[in-house]
Amino acid sequence: MDNKTLLEKLNTLSIEEKIGQLIQLTGDFFEGDMDTVVTGPLKKLGLNTDYNIYNTGSILNITNPEKIIRLQTDYLEKSAHKIPLLFMADIIYGYRTIFPIPIAQACSWNYEEVENAASIAARECYEEGIHVTFSPMVDLVRDPRWGRVMESPGEDTLLAQKYAQSVVLGIQGNNLEGGAVPAHKIAACVKHFAAYGAPVAGREYNAVDLSEHALREYYLPGYQAAIEAGAKLVMTAFNTLNGIPATGNEWLNRNVLRQEMNFDGVLISDYAAIEELIMHGYAEDETSAARLALLAGVDVDMKTAVYANQLKNVITGNDYMLELLNEAVYRVLKLKNDLGLFEDPFRGLQEIVKRSTSSILSDDHKQAALSLTEESVVLLKNENNVLPLSREMKIALIGPYAEENSTLGMWAIKGEETDTINLKTGLLQLVGPDNLSVCRGSYLLPVDARKTFDKYADKLAVETSSEEDLLQEAIRNANEAEVIVLALGESIYQSGEGGSRTNPALPEPQLRLLHELSLLGKRIVLIVYSGRPLILTDVAEKVDAIIQAWYPGTMGGEALANILYGEVNPSGKLAMTFPRSVGQIPVYYNELNTGRPNLKENGSYRFASRYIDEVNEPLYPFGYGLSYTSFEYSLLTVSQKEMKTNESVDIRISVSNTGTYAGKETIQLYIRDKFASVARPVKELKDFKKVFLHSGETKIVEFSVDEDMLKFYGREMEYKSEPGEFEVYIGSSSQETLLSFSFTLLREDQHE
Ligand code: IFM
Repeated sequence: MDNKTLLEKLNTLSIEEKIGQLIQLTGDFFEGDMDTVVTGPLKKLGLNTDYNIYNTGSILNITNPEKIIRLQTDYLEKSAHKIPLLFMADIIYGYRTIFPIPIAQACSWNYEEVENAASIAARECYEEGIHVTFSPMVDLVRDPRWGRVMESPGEDTLLAQKYAQSVVLGIQGNNLEGGAVPAHKIAACVKHFAAYGAPVAGREYNAVDLSEHALREYYLPGYQAAIEAGAKLVMTAFNTLNGIPATGNEWLNRNVLRQEMNFDGVLISDYAAIEELIMHGYAEDETSAARLALLAGVDVDMKTAVYANQLKNVITGNDYMLELLNEAVYRVLKLKNDLGLFEDPFRGLQEIVKRSTSSILSDDHKQAALSLTEESVVLLKNENNVLPLSREMKIALIGPYAEENSTLGMWAIKGEETDTINLKTGLLQLVGPDNLSVCRGSYLLPVDARKTFDKYADKLAVETSSEEDLLQEAIRNANEAEVIVLALGESIYQSGEGGSRTNPALPEPQLRLLHELSLLGKRIVLIVYSGRPLILTDVAEKVDAIIQAWYPGTMGGEALANILYGEVNPSGKLAMTFPRSVGQIPVYYNELNTGRPNLKENGSYRFASRYIDEVNEPLYPFGYGLSYTSFEYSLLTVSQKEMKTNESVDIRISVSNTGTYAGKETIQLYIRDKFASVARPVKELKDFKKVFLHSGETKIVEFSVDEDMLKFYGREMEYKSEPGEFEVYIGSSSQETLLSFSFTLLREDQHE
């Protein structure tokens, strides 16, 4: 449908029908007993009795194709305007084929595979009738206490940009010019605008206080990258930003998002966020909440009655507000049009369900999940090369995650635990049962904590062994083995939305198990399942190796078995710093130098930026991750030591695999702007290359530093570079610099 026809359609709608387009409800409003996933407070919305349900514009989190067909058919029959419903859902890192959680994906530093994963998730959604997914989430995060670290690409702006771009392209395909979403693709919704990942003290939904400089410099570029990649929707954030709730923030959503970032798609509120403007103390009643949200440019009200009940009052006698309403409705209609819903309200779903073939959970999809998981896992420690294991060794696999299928993470709403390959299964598939014993060793959580999670309360009822029996069995198994593989972690319910923790550590019963096993003098390989960096400082001292598995998805057990036995050489690098202690949080690599940096040569000099009871350095820094092989770097050429703004410094280095295993290395390039009108971080990631090298192989790796990589937000929020000296660090992590040099960006008058 062309634009003119779309506008004509808009003009045929009554005010009630227009408002309806801006309402998003769950399926239970249309039918009883729908398969709806509820992700916010469950309550009757209090819709006015004259609200016509058949004016509603979109539906949240129904993921059953037959129901989608039934609902759309019924809706089109009963609605006067015959504008198809939109179906939106939270398919964040996989539909049925579940990929590793986003923080893990970011650790792969392999954005081709990240894009492929998003494309597979979109394909499976398409085959089940979903039109929009609420992904990617690109909220930058520096605080592992926050539960939604698991859904985030981590602490770095460049990685957030790459993740945003790859996921949008995977979901929507390449429609950068706007317009139609290609067949087999769906629409992407980047969230949560803005800075939702920076709540004070890591507490969910807490206030966000950020300087405008930090907001623009670090937090906004991820969303911007998603918009530039064509994301059709943006979701607002729950939080206040410097005192103003994001969902009612006109400056943020109109000036920054729409005008500066050029976003012309649909802005949807997060779940009940318009109504929550009242709880924030920002809107005094629902009419005011509706007015503030519309003024702020929020098009769709997710799951409240505020727009439905109040927008008519808001626009009555106010031409400006009526114009804003029309704009919002137009954007929703345009999205429906871009998805081709006016031509086919089912997007081929009726034919798809009739076919017996489907790509859902296909071998290809599982293979892609396996590969991305293998790239996402991070080897944190490997003392005396205890890994990889040899098939001749007797192994005791111990721990609550040894045989646990609940390793998909909290947002895998369509993921089935029965499809999941757990660690025991993965090991049995690879090496068979002869040298393997398996036991649980401890419960995942202490009894009291288990009761707070429904799932574990259920399990508790059937648990008959005492903690002591589990421990004794583990000790017996361990004594008969050469190496203990200990599979520990936080419960998936301790991470995710509403999963903030003051002490992000391994649960207490597991720490006891680890301690008791460490007294046996056996080698221990620890595998950590978690949705965030945990504090592993004491734990690391008691084990020989640590593998950070995150929540590894459907193929997790197979990927981990391959890594344990060296079928695959680990290559993940941390996308987020692992603190040594809670007191260090927030700790991140691109900090400012301060006026009194803590210099090594000054020893324990007191009046420096330091703690008196803890070192400044984290346990494992951003960009860190070990391999079974070793790599050597050498600098071959740097094209120039002085650069004009229209030039680039081209760098060639050689990287050699000097060990005995083939493997992948991620070569990271960081830049420091030594002096500027705004203090600049000690280093910032500006580029990286992930390369595969056979044992003994050498490859030439090239980087090019141009002016764009040197730009930052100045005092007046102008985005620019400043002439002067820059240092370049090339290495295998943010802490391990293997090569460095400096160059000068010339002033205009030096350009001659
Ligand atoms: O998409 C989510 C969002 O991330 C958190 N609140 C609920 C939304 C819809 O389920």
